Amino acid sequence: MPDSNILSVYSNKRVLITGGLGFLGSSLAHALVARGADVALLDNLAPLYGGNEFNIDTIKDQVTVTIGDIRDSGLLHKVILDCDFIFNFAAQVSHSDSATMPFEDLDINARGQLMILEACRLYNPHAKIIFPSSRLVFGRIQHTPVTEEHPTHPLGLYGVHKLTAEKYYQLYHHLYGMRTVVLRLTNPYGPRQQIKHSKYSIPGWFMRLAMEGKEISIFGEGEQKRDYIYVDDVVQSFLLVGALDITDGKVYNCGYGSSVAFKDMVTALITIVGSGNVRFVPWPSHYEKEETGSFEVDTSLLRRDTQWVPAVSLKEGLQRMCQYYIEYKNHYLFPNL
Ligand SMILES: NC(=O)c1ccc[n+]([C@@H]2O[C@H](COP(=O)([O-])OP(=O)(O)OC[C@H]3O[C@@H](n4cnc5c(N)ncnc54)[C@H](O)[C@@H]3O)[C@@H](O)[C@H]2O)c1
Repeated sequence: MPDSNILSVYSNKRVLITGGLGFLGSSLAHALVARGADVALLDNLAPLYGGNEFNIDTIKDQVTVTIGDIRDSGLLHKVILDCDFIFNFAAQVSHSDSATMPFEDLDINARGQLMILEACRLYNPHAKIIFPSSRLVFGRIQHTPVTEEHPTHPLGLYGVHKLTAEKYYQLYHHLYGMRTVVLRLTNPYGPRQQIKHSKYSIPGWFMRLAMEGKEISIFGEGEQKRDYIYVDDVVQSFLLVGALDITDGKVYNCGYGSSVAFKDMVTALITIVGSGNVRFVPWPSHYEKEETGSFEVDTSLLRRDTQWVPAVSLKEGLQRMCQYYIEYKNHYLFPNL
């Protein structure tokens, strides 16, 4: 494990988290507050996504919250000033919505990222900026484990725009020396994940169905494998790449590094929750076109450069997540969309 002194760099540093009321952003906010950072959150609380004020309930007096949009250039100018670190989690997060709202996805996930980089170039060029990308930039998987060099041919606009944003982060380092780094995430899960609809964050949605004793539909035989990574491990990886001297737009894979068949994840979840059941249904035709195939990530580059090691197994992570929603589910039951 890395030397915990590395993370003391955040003490008294000003950190902006865009999308900071969402699942990953708020979880990072908790970790940064615990390390003495001066944390500011920018989030537009758009109803489709996972922004939820309850996510920061226990730290709300220790962070500054601005409700607003990353595409508001005047606001952006104000919030990025004097930040040492910017973790840029604000996003349209649903792969399926990127097909039905292509221009919204382009606007938030590509143009919005470019606006942040431009604002930083003009007004805060020394900030370290960390960007969460997605495994969906790879498209159809040709070999596992998937290294950073695996071809990138996304099968949807979400992946195309995430890949575009990655290129912006690399280009702004190349052209202007800006201090950027990218983490490509696999399938994060855990407490504070939105459970109000099924458009993204599948483990969260399935946990809700199981807790309500409902049926969970699995496409095909459920053999497709995914690489599930617990939120605390994701947060730790962001803290490390932020703190270390990695500033050259480098792209890292971040996942657990071993995969589980979809049906086995669901079986584990149902066993832990103690209710719910499974029904196998045929793949809808459009899903087959967009399905990446089984996925397992190679994280050796991230491990080598940061000494990061994921610590929470799927079983342990699902247990912690279940415990969280037993206690707090009512704060996450927004209407189904
Ligand atoms: N959760 C995943 O499965 C996953 C996987 C790979 C990558 N990521 C990336 O991680 C990041 C965070 O995802 P998450 O799972 O925490 O999702 P989330 O929906 O919980 O958080 C996203 C937050 O961004 C906010 N937001 C959206 N558009 C905004 C805008 N225009 N201006 C300001 N705020 C805005 C939302 O209100 C929400 O709070 C995203 O960039 C996402 O693409 C997530």
